[in-house]
Amino acid sequence: MVTFTPRVLSGMQPTGNLHLGNYLGAMVNWVKMQDTHETLYCVVDMHAITQPTSVWGGPTALRKSTLEVAAAYMAAGIDPKKSILFNQSRVPEHAELAWIFNCIARLGWLNRMTQFKEKAGKDRENASVGLYAYPVLMAADILIYRATQVPVGEDQKQHLELCRDIAIKFNNDFGVDFFPITEPVIMGPATRVMSLRDGTKKMSKSDPSDLSRINLTDSADDIAKKIRKAKTDADGLPSEKAGLAGRPEAENLVGIYAALADRTTEVVLTEFGGGQFSAFKNALAELAVAKISPINTKMNQLLAEVGYVEQVLTEGSTRASAIAAPIMKDVKKIVGFV
Ligand code: ADP
Ligand code: TRP
Repeated sequence: MVTFTPRVLSGMQPTGNLHLGNYLGAMVNWVKMQDTHETLYCVVDMHAITQPTSVWGGPTALRKSTLEVAAAYMAAGIDPKKSILFNQSRVPEHAELAWIFNCIARLGWLNRMTQFKEKAGKDRENASVGLYAYPVLMAADILIYRATQVPVGEDQKQHLELCRDIAIKFNNDFGVDFFPITEPVIMGPATRVMSLRDGTKKMSKSDPSDLSRINLTDSADDIAKKIRKAKTDADGLPSEKAGLAGRPEAENLVGIYAALADRTTEVVLTEFGGGQFSAFKNALAELAVAKISPINTKMNQLLAEVGYVEQVLTEGSTRASAIAAPIMKDVKKIVGFV
């Protein structure tokens, strides 16, 4: 058995504002891992164009969102000296490997993907081929670096299982031990942050109600207002985790508090259990403002010197290419390309 060097890769699409779900579900873990691992974080601009132009806004909007998301990564704590920060389309090996993986992945596997079904909606015939092949490109993003760990929110679990299936089938088909069987890293008390208006729905940038989510670009007043207005039930806070069962809105707010404070749910309930919900909401609003506002300020500072952000992406892409190119060369040899 080959032992693979530990390497971390993750990415987000440059579509719309990043929100608290993206931050707590993924980015907080990205920041932690850069001190212990070799880390690569990308803005997946090629994934963004899998949806209709009206969703991602066209070329001008895409350029702007790509720089904004890169700035958000840095504002949230991704240090371009510790991590390789780049945008996917600058490293052509992602697309090259994705083609080979298109020939490895089976239609039956892709037909099971729930995110495709959600994003394609009712008019499936009209979805792009790219949207269907989205998880194959994602597997290529990961395996072109032979990444061993991928920190993401819970909704990406199915895509990561597909990535493992592709690696296993490639290795079997060609009789090699070339690609690692990548591990998802889904950790912390907020792996699935729910909408502030409906505790059964995921917080998402595509929710039409802005009150449903906290954007990383929201002002302190907006953050506080959204938390005050967040849906809750009539009961107070329990002192034990079991008391949150069947109370999705309460569970969500406690999870958000725990993640922002870097504590466990149990510790948060020991402190606030038995008290009024309104007092807890005030504390949560204060904490959320204290954590999100500096990210917002830093992001604006970075976007005021956008040339610096562009330079980070250029350097990151060069460093990412240096890892990807020799791996692609080996893959071509394995497949039999002359
Ligand atoms: P969205 O669902 O808002 O379109 P993305 O699909 O671009 O967000 O997700 C980017 C990253 O953020 C992924 O790792 C995903 O798992 C994570 N993520 C997105 N929404 C949430 C959420 N509500 N809770 C936890 N993690 C999330
Ligand atoms: N599919 C991921 C999402 O919607 C984004 C993504 C693309 C990704 N490529 C990746 C995440 C590689 C982790 C690793 O959030």
